[in-house]
Amino acid sequence: MTNPTQTRMKEQKTYQFPTDFWWGTASSATQMEGAAFEGGKGLNIWDYWYMQEPNRFFNGVSATEASNFYHLYEEDIALMKELGHNTFRFSISWSRLFPQGVGEVNEEAITFYNNVINCLIDHGIEPFINLYHFDMPMALQEQGGWESREVVEAYVTFAKTCFELFGDRVEKWFTHNEPIVPVEGGYLYDFHYPNVVDFKRAVQVAYHSILSSAMAIESYRDMGQSGQIGIILNLTPSYPRSQHPADLSAARIADAMFNRSFLDPSVLGTFPQELVDVLKSEDAMPQMEAGDLELIREHTVDLLGINYYQPRRVKAKASLPNPDAPFLPENLFDFYEMPGRKMNPYRGWEIYEKGIYDILINLKENYGNIPCFISENGMGVEGEERYRDENGSVQDDYRIDFIREHLKWMHQAIEEGSKVKGYHLWTFMDNWSWSNAYKNRYGFVGIDLDTQQRTVKKSGYWFKELIEAKGFTE
Ligand code: BG6
Repeated sequence: MTNPTQTRMKEQKTYQFPTDFWWGTASSATQMEGAAFEGGKGLNIWDYWYMQEPNRFFNGVSATEASNFYHLYEEDIALMKELGHNTFRFSISWSRLFPQGVGEVNEEAITFYNNVINCLIDHGIEPFINLYHFDMPMALQEQGGWESREVVEAYVTFAKTCFELFGDRVEKWFTHNEPIVPVEGGYLYDFHYPNVVDFKRAVQVAYHSILSSAMAIESYRDMGQSGQIGIILNLTPSYPRSQHPADLSAARIADAMFNRSFLDPSVLGTFPQELVDVLKSEDAMPQMEAGDLELIREHTVDLLGINYYQPRRVKAKASLPNPDAPFLPENLFDFYEMPGRKMNPYRGWEIYEKGIYDILINLKENYGNIPCFISENGMGVEGEERYRDENGSVQDDYRIDFIREHLKWMHQAIEEGSKVKGYHLWTFMDNWSWSNAYKNRYGFVGIDLDTQQRTVKKSGYWFKELIEAKGFTE
């Protein structure tokens, strides 16, 4: 007799995505370009910090060479085309375009970015350009970086210059990538330059980043540009340990501090009251000028990029924080490790695929279903060489599983009416990653750092097939 459980076929489901869905990858200038001291580029905080403290970077590797996109962009873009990309996000290095942050524009940078944009378009890949990805020009950091209102003005000049130079061909612009990260890294938790730990200064930096975004959006619209402008935020849904009121309140405050702090002003033009209450009680309200709040209210984004890597698990604070220690958001809640969680052990991040769905449904229900796309999602893995086959191609089935499981939840959100318009993996080819340098590899394309040779991983070919089929069946 045949065992019915053996013969029963697993029910197959097709996950079909819209024909005009954006498929591609994301990157940033510092992490990919290299040529840090070539082509007239000025120093940014990463170049400078490395000179001061090379030990802060994994294996002492700097961003000086990175993945050498500055020289190899034609080859790289041809490979993007081969892997089916219809869109690609990169950032313009502020200190490449303006070596001193303001003032003289670097002609070589204009040529380089024109070449990249034109090459992408020639290959049928729409360029998505981000203006700020953690890379403050050193000359402006010396003037206070995002703590300074003059730097906000300098950023607006940089943004306008980019719109003028490239806006005839580029229709998707983003003012910032993950603007909360320089706040956390540079002013709270000591993982970016200038390594300050000071809540009030962190708040000023956050406020100026939000203001600068609204001002850039205002300029974009005043200039009569025809595309869309948005911001890219890392949204980390806050899940409470339990339904106990204290756990729920801890999750709400974590959400206000880490997600709504940027999401609300960017999409709704307002700030969450819970956040304002904390800032007032900590005497940490930022310096503002008359008219700022109105400007922020009136210049919200057209399009939202969502970077999603991990959830945030939160519980009520168990013990009183040290009153003498610097105030940190975690004074108001504790982090919580969900029993049985799935982990990416290399990055130390929990993998929770349904989070992508929860974000999209939250946007649908509470943020007017703003048009959005997944602007980053991905899995950094250490020691990928061990998965190379005889042709040198990394057999990264774990990355395929990771992407596929997230896409299923994204598909579910689309079926329920989310206006998510695309998916970009972090990242196209392995790239340099802030303090982790080349420890964890994220790309569809592997890089041999000694030779700069590119080799497509199994996931790259899988993604190509997915794009051609506009989905997958499983
Ligand atoms: C995002 C950033 O935070 O995550 C990228 O936009 C970054 O710049 C990526 O590289 C992955 O994080 P990490 O720290 O592992 O490089």
